[in-house]
Amino acid sequence: MKTLKHLFESNQKWAKQIESEQPGFFEQLSKQQSPEYLWIGCADSRVPANEIIDLRPGEVFVHRNIANVVVHTDLNCLSVIQYAVEVLKVKHIIVCGHYGCGGVAASLQDEDHGLIDNWLQHIRDVYRFHAAELDAIEEPVERRDRLCELNVIEQVGNVCSSRPVSNALKSGQQLNIHGWIYRLEDGILKDLDVTVAG
Ligand code: CO
Repeated sequence: MKTLKHLFESNQKWAKQIESEQPGFFEQLSKQQSPEYLWIGCADSRVPANEIIDLRPGEVFVHRNIANVVVHTDLNCLSVIQYAVEVLKVKHIIVCGHYGCGGVAASLQDEDHGLIDNWLQHIRDVYRFHAAELDAIEEPVERRDRLCELNVIEQVGNVCSSRPVSNALKSGQQLNIHGWIYRLEDGILKDLDVTVAG
């Protein structure tokens, strides 16, 4: 198991399968990528971007972090956005959260989680913006899941106010920003209807 042999075997099988369905697939894809979508999602292993929307390599540019947060000082996420918008010229940016998000749940606890508490503070900010609505929800799971939705909506706003995206929207570049949420229990996506269209 030292070398994770089974993963290399799976990889061989996977590449062979794709190549047999579409000969020259990898050779052609190696020359350039032109994805139409940028996906900003949670790092949760149960929410894999390509699989959920059934897209192949080359079709979606992906950034994932804990609880799909877009922070104005996060050079990693902002660089992904800039490259996707200015170079790849993606037509859609999808911020996708999920119900039952562990990061969102942790932000609701008054416990010491170590370093990650600094990251979760961004979600606590979202709570603060919507405290009146959230405090009124008595059922804890329901409150958590509403915070999952509000977090997506807030991050859509953060994407829009980032420099590369606001410039693109102003210049009339074809670009839409969407807020979606995914349900782990049935594998189904829901559009939160907060799409910002360029
Ligand atoms: Co999550």
